[in-house]
Amino acid sequence: MNKPTVVKVVLLGSSGVGKSSIIYRYVTNDWDESMQTTLGAAFMDKNVVYQGIHFKFQIWDTAGQEKYAPLAQMYYRDANVALLVYDITNKESFYNLKTWYLELAEKGPKNIALAIVGNKCDLRDQEQVSTADGEKYAKECKAIFMKTSAKENLGVTELFENICEKLIVDMKLEEQEVEVTKSRLVPPKPKETKKCCG
Ligand code: GTP
Ligand code: MG
Repeated sequence: MNKPTVVKVVLLGSSGVGKSSIIYRYVTNDWDESMQTTLGAAFMDKNVVYQGIHFKFQIWDTAGQEKYAPLAQMYYRDANVALLVYDITNKESFYNLKTWYLELAEKGPKNIALAIVGNKCDLRDQEQVSTADGEKYAKECKAIFMKTSAKENLGVTELFENICEKLIVDMKLEEQEVEVTKSRLVPPKPKETKKCCG
């Protein structure tokens, strides 16, 4: 396999929205009914090849409990991607994303890619946050939007595929910028002066 593109991902969001369950589903393709609340943070990694590119995702799963909030900075400060996760059956968890968004805008890396993730979409009959509201907010944040169910394995793979696509687009843009900068650094050829033979 070619040298991987290392991508640091951080998950942020209220306690109980399903951050650990999403990552557990993505990395192990399994579901743990009795997932315990995260203490501090947890780490998992996964290698994927998407469109011929080898991505190595280094995933930091933060603890949603309020007392751990100050620790999050250690995990997002050099992240390439942040997943802001809410629970579609819990309005408050959706409103709490705003705090994370503002904190990232203020203290996070400049070019961090964002995804707004509405988890527990299997609990359709208990929905408190409509898909339209989730999409609208994601648009405002210039973020990817995805509804997921870690439990029923819905949208989780697609979420990471969308992230790969976004990263590929960003990488191409970066390459183009480097090319443009390089071309500006090449000194212009001196103008040919016509010899006068008169
Ligand atoms: P903290 O570690 O405390 O921040 O919570 P978390 O966001 O990591 O949530 P966690 O993955 O521990 O899940 C919390 C609860 O929600 C657990 O009881 C899970 O079984 C449940 N849960 C997680 N994802 C889903 C889902 O997609 N659907 C349903 N129905 N329940 C889910
Ligand atoms: Mg957790």
